[in-house]
Formats: sequence, structure tokens, C-alpha cells
Amino acid sequence: MRIDIITLFPEVFTPLDTSIVKRAIDKGITEILIWNLRNFTKDKHKKVDDTPYGGGKGMVLQCEPIFAAVEHIKKQNKTSKVILTTPQGALFNQGVAKKLSSEKGLIIICGHYEGVDERISTIVDYEISIGDYVLTGGELPAMVITDALVRLLPGVLPKDAPVYDSFNRNLLDWPSYTKPATFKGMEVPEVLISGNHEKIAKWRKEESEKRTKKRRPDLYRNYLKQEKKNE
Ligand SMILES: C[S@@+](CC[C@H](N)C(=O)[O-])C[C@H]1O[C@@H](n2cnc3c(N)ncnc32)[C@H](O)[C@@H]1O
Repeated sequence: MRIDIITLFPEVFTPLDTSIVKRAIDKGITEILIWNLRNFTKDKHKKVDDTPYGGGKGMVLQCEPIFAAVEHIKKQNKTSKVILTTPQGALFNQGVAKKLSSEKGLIIICGHYEGVDERISTIVDYEISIGDYVLTGGELPAMVITDALVRLLPGVLPKDAPVYDSFNRNLLDWPSYTKPATFKGMEVPEVLISGNHEKIAKWRKEESEKRTKKRRPDLYRNYLKQEKKNE
């Protein structure tokens, strides 16, 4: 999958060059291209924003450079879908990440200042928010979206790994422990060192259910519904 990110701050995307995302790039499973919005303006000072019509505070990102950037990228990858990062968009979650991971390509627009000219919504397929708070720009949301969906691309993680991650089965992940078996008087649950795989699987399932019920009753209700459907 090809992911193109349009931003005023290309230099901040270094986290995408580490760990699992980097490995996915190295394996050729994904390609991530960062585009500087200023390179798409015809303004000699590389200006990409202007004051809002109607007056008021702040600056608004203009249509021309964003349209030009999206058109340029689409010439290279016609089927790419366009995401606008905005606190006013649909809330991003594991389900949305899963859906997006089946797209052939994505173009992510990072807003800044007071946001983007409303007419940009005409070239956008998904408006996405990463939570009910306002960030300075769309760079962190673009990285969050990219990281979450790259993990789900086939071949990135070991086959079953994402299945047991939180949210994938409407459950939170089970508690994990590693060596040493005793730390400051705290013991690892005995079942995990029993070597009995059946018992371990049962314990993990029950722990996942227990903590989901306690921490995320909304998710737990969906889990019960799903279980009923599967009966
Ligand atoms: C300061 S915000 C603009 C907020 C806008 N005035 C509003 O209240 O809806 C600048 C940019 O940061 C990004 N952004 C901020 N918070 C976000 C969030 N929760 N989810 C996704 N993008 C966000 C968007 O790209 C947005 O255009």
C-alpha cells in the first residue's frame, strides 16, 4: 500500500522511519511518501495560507496548493483515497484502521492554523479525527493513522498477532508478563509457567473478558453480541 502525506512540516515524520513501520517499508509492503505543501504553491514566497473570509483570528490553508498536491499524487496512483485530518471528522478506531488497510493507496492531508478551506472537502473521501481534542496540526494524526493501519497490512506482523491485539475481537488484550518470574515480591500467575497451553489459552481469554467488562463496558457489550451471533 502506498501512503502519501501532504504537510507543511515534512521533517517531523521521523517516527515512521523506525520499528514496525520501517520494517514494512523495507519489506516493500508499504511505501510512505512525504510531500511538502509549499512545493505546490505558485506564490513566489511559497505562501499556502490566507486570512479567513468574514474576518476573525488565524489563517486558513488555501485550496490551490492542496488541490495541486492531490492531483499530482493521483497522477502517480489513480486509485488512492484522500483523508483529511480534522477534529471534526469521524473518530478513528481499530475498525476504521482495518477498513483503510484494505485500500490500495491513501493520501493524507495535514491541516494547520485554523484548518483548511472548506472547499477541500470536495476532493476528500474520509474526514478523520483521532480524538475529541484539538492539536496544532495534522502531522501527529497522520502518523497515528499510518502506524495503526500499516500494522494490519498482510506480512507486517506474525500471522495471528493483530487478532489478539486490543479491539480486534471487541476485547482488550490479556495481561502480559516476562522474566523474572518474581519481582519485588510480585509473582507471575502460576498458570503462565505451567506449560499447559490449553489452560493458558483459557486463562488469557477469561482475563481479556474480565478487563474488557471492567474497563470498557461498551466494547464488552459488542463482544457479547458477537459471541451470540457466532453461536
Ligand atoms: C488547530 S487545528 C484546527 C482546528 C479547527 N479550528 C477546529 O476547531 O475544528 C489544525 C489542524 O490540526 C489537525 N487536527 C487537530 N486536531 C485534530 C484531531 N483531533 N484529529 C485530527 N486532526 C486534527 C487538523 O488537520 C486541523 O486542520
